[in-house]
Amino acid sequence: MNYFKNIKLENYRNFNNLELDFDQNCNVFFGNNGSGKTNILESISLFERGRGFRQDKINNLINFESKKDNFRIYSNFFHKHGDIIVSVFNERKKISLTKKIIVNGSSSKDSKEHFESLFSIIYFLPEMERLFVSSPSARRNFLDRLIFNSNKRYLKIVNDYKKNITERSRILKDYNSEIEWLNNIEKKIVELGIIIYKERLTYIEEINLALKRLDIAKKFNYKININLDDLLLNQCKNDTNVLFEEYIKTIKASREIDKLLGGSKVGPHKSDIVGYDIGKNININQFSTGQQKTVVLLIILAQCTMLISEQKISPIILFDEVCSHLDNNNRELLLHIIKTLDVQTFLTGTEKSFFSFLSTKTLYCNINEL
Ligand SMILES: Nc1ncnc2c1ncn2[C@@H]1O[C@H](COP(=O)(O)OP(=O)(O)OP(=O)(O)O)[C@@H](O)[C@H]1O
Ligand SMILES: [Mg+2]
Repeated sequence: MNYFKNIKLENYRNFNNLELDFDQNCNVFFGNNGSGKTNILESISLFERGRGFRQDKINNLINFESKKDNFRIYSNFFHKHGDIIVSVFNERKKISLTKKIIVNGSSSKDSKEHFESLFSIIYFLPEMERLFVSSPSARRNFLDRLIFNSNKRYLKIVNDYKKNITERSRILKDYNSEIEWLNNIEKKIVELGIIIYKERLTYIEEINLALKRLDIAKKFNYKININLDDLLLNQCKNDTNVLFEEYIKTIKASREIDKLLGGSKVGPHKSDIVGYDIGKNININQFSTGQQKTVVLLIILAQCTMLISEQKISPIILFDEVCSHLDNNNRELLLHIIKTLDVQTFLTGTEKSFFSFLSTKTLYCNINEL
């Protein structure tokens, strides 16, 4: 099992200088509102590709109160073949700031790819309790994030797809002059879109199987099944063999409307993810908030079991404010994730007492006293 041994924050968010040692299993950060608990979780999420779980601008990571124009985060990451020393900081590229990662003194693509293949950051944020009643884009992002956790190349495919959609919109405004270019872009969009559809369908099949195998889900009598709801896939009756022709035909036919409205009327960026309890025959969006929380936690548990047993990737789980109004089931489920899986977990909350159900082998850190 791989894990973060410690962290050092310099000029990052509300911390000038902070050093913390971590437990390899369970870590709790408690303290007042605004003390910096979520900021610490976010700093861990920055060791992964991207802008962290808040998706904030890199500028905002630098301590506002400081005169310096850079932040730095360091950690020693435990790996059985020897610790890996990683640091994350900002760099100026022309007028904007970007994030940079150095792994064992190297910024090469190989060393970064090796490092990111050793772990996956999985997070539960307070807004995820309402995932099944929030926007389709929140659910798509949730699913894409799960896929990214097990296939790090997936993010690039999604980003390339989005870039091509933007490029097509630009051409559509002036498309008479660039008809060949438009045809090429649409072909590229369709090819990338089909990869995304296939990745999502495969992943959904796997997670549904993993959910079905969870004993704790059986115990709670939850039979969760996730589906992809998508116009194009429905048109093709989920047959990916006819998808290419249907997709090309539909995207070309929607040029006029896309020109008016921008974006693209069809494609995986329009899909929704629907969850059902097939035992009770209920859409998850009809569940209570607490029950929806159980479903998200079950998906996280299923995801972790897949990562650990099939892919040998160590999940690092960030639970922000997960302990508010937990019933016995959710408490048992959380405890199950923390104690029975071989994972490193980080939890936050305003009161230490919220975590009294965890055993003594937990590292508590009072953020107010830092
Ligand atoms: N770049 C920055 N420089 C300085 N302070 C910042 C920066 N970015 C955010 N902050 C501040 O950091 C503080 C801590 O934020 P954080 O979200 O981590 O609090 P929290 O402990 O999780 O609080 P809550 O219990 O309300 O969730 C906030 O007051 C926020 O305004
Ligand atoms: Mg917070």
